[in-house]
Amino acid sequence: MKDAIEKLKKNLQELEVSTAEQLEEFRMRFIGRKSEIAGLFGKFKDVPAEQKKEVGQQINALKELAQERFNTFIAQINTSKFQANKPHDLTLPGRPDELGSIHPLTHTRMRIIKIFERMGFNVSDGPEIEDDWHNFTALNFPENHPAREMQDTFFIEKNPDITLRTHTSSVQVRVMENQKPPIRTLSPGRVFRNEAISARAHCVFHQVEGLFVDENVSFKDLKDTLYHFAKEMFGQHTKIRFRPSFFPFTEPSAEIDISCLICKGKGCNICKHTGWVEIGGSGMVDPQVFINCGIDAEKYTGFAFGMGIERITMLRYQINDLRLFTENDVRFLQSMNQLY
Ligand code: DAH
Repeated sequence: MKDAIEKLKKNLQELEVSTAEQLEEFRMRFIGRKSEIAGLFGKFKDVPAEQKKEVGQQINALKELAQERFNTFIAQINTSKFQANKPHDLTLPGRPDELGSIHPLTHTRMRIIKIFERMGFNVSDGPEIEDDWHNFTALNFPENHPAREMQDTFFIEKNPDITLRTHTSSVQVRVMENQKPPIRTLSPGRVFRNEAISARAHCVFHQVEGLFVDENVSFKDLKDTLYHFAKEMFGQHTKIRFRPSFFPFTEPSAEIDISCLICKGKGCNICKHTGWVEIGGSGMVDPQVFINCGIDAEKYTGFAFGMGIERITMLRYQINDLRLFTENDVRFLQSMNQLY
């Protein structure tokens, strides 16, 4: 009897059930009225009296074990059945494909390009990792110019110097090396400077460069072109002024200011109470730059300008913190999209 109980217990523990048929077999063999366990109870009367207590307990434990396993199998089969035939709720609404929105800087870049395209400019670009020649030397930066120093420029390699371009003016050089005048080109792109990130500065930002080279190009053409741009970009009432300045690659050079859009020139925090805000630099291409790029400096003249895309976007939409452009806050991007 004891052997039969042990054998049955071992069977019970080892047996696995995964289908409804196997479950029924299990039930008949261990639980039903004609089961092997029921059979043990039948034979119980033949157990010698002094063993009855112990054997009785063993058979009862076996019965409980069988029931326990049976319940587990039912639960297992039910879950797997549910998973296999998981009902699809066809009335549920679809998962919306969230449409992204155009980044404000992209939007500004596209607007700028459109305005200049109408004036006959094409679009060109150059690498973000630039050599010293294209970023500095060809643009007439003297050897000891502060812009070459470590605090401004990210160097990838030294001697020969490879840098992250500090401005899009490097594309001017690349275009002039590869094309003959007349040239009218716009070069938007990412630039890098070793600056601490704040509301007003970032180590990665965007510029758009313009270059116009032909015979008889004058400072008047520069002023006309940028004047037209300012009105198209910021509105017909926008005023523009040129402030004398210095850049190694232009002579004469001028800073471009527009009348403050926020206070309309009356004076506020944004324009530091001057009524004017700077949007970039410009000037007549220095003949030495033409020579460096293999363009006849006697025959051709030209103008160039470079403007900050972040700056223009901030002025146009009155955004007061540069970091918003890179934080990826969907609420900011969506609210911007409603303004375009
Ligand atoms: N590259 C200058 C800067 O990043 C901006 C600039 C000034 C560009 C004058 C020009 C220019 O093309 O003519 O500060």
